[in-house]
Amino acid sequence: MKVLFIADVVGSPGRNALKDYLHKLKLKHQPDVTIVNGENAASGKGITEKIYHEIKEMGADVITLGNHAWDKKEIFDFIDNVSDLVRPANFPKGTPGVGYLIKKVGNKKIAIINGQGRTFMAPIDCPFTVLNDIVQEVRKKTPYIFVDFHAEATSEKQAMGWYLDGQVSAVVGTHTHVQTADERILHGGTAYITDVGMTGPYDGILGVDKDVVINRFMTSLPARFEVTQGREQLNGVILTLNDKTGLADSIQRITINEERPFFD
Ligand SMILES: [Fe+2]
Ligand SMILES: [Fe+2]
Repeated sequence: MKVLFIADVVGSPGRNALKDYLHKLKLKHQPDVTIVNGENAASGKGITEKIYHEIKEMGADVITLGNHAWDKKEIFDFIDNVSDLVRPANFPKGTPGVGYLIKKVGNKKIAIINGQGRTFMAPIDCPFTVLNDIVQEVRKKTPYIFVDFHAEATSEKQAMGWYLDGQVSAVVGTHTHVQTADERILHGGTAYITDVGMTGPYDGILGVDKDVVINRFMTSLPARFEVTQGREQLNGVILTLNDKTGLADSIQRITINEERPFFD
């Protein structure tokens, strides 16, 4: 089974990059399932119902979220009415939405789980125990298990990778918006990368206007972070999962920008 994952789509530049490249990437790699992190898809903060459908129409099968899941208040009106949206599983019981889902892919199934770290982030429930409970549950149904672990600290993401190694197909990190070059298959067969990166503006700071961020660092005064415009980039990974074990045979980074253009 092949899985295409696209990292945090940021605002209109991210959606434009998705429009430009997602269908080309799907033609090139022929993924069985395409997953897109959409936590920043609406002007850098959260997701709207319209944008959820827009990303689905562009070719995403499932959309994952993160700490920005709740930024657009309308999320509470539609999160329980759509079928392919996953928010971090370790928010407290009673939080709207689901933390994982099982998607049918031909005659197979893949579980898609979203988790969120706690280091330098909001103190929600333990991602390790919550994700482990879900993994033990979904392993009864399918060996194909994809984890988008949305976390700030590299160490927490590495810890999750090793913790779930051999039990899931892949643990890929999101949230820090800069792609890391440490993709590998761990000893037990789980594909791992600390951060897949970001799909959005190429010339800002994590997607935000660079002058605003520089000024914020220099003055420590509050500032309104706006998604910057201009050149775009797309970051993702393509995974090949073993049809006997569900574990990973390969993980490959995808980086598209003006300096590293897309080739068919
Ligand atoms: Fe993000
Ligand atoms: Fe995030």
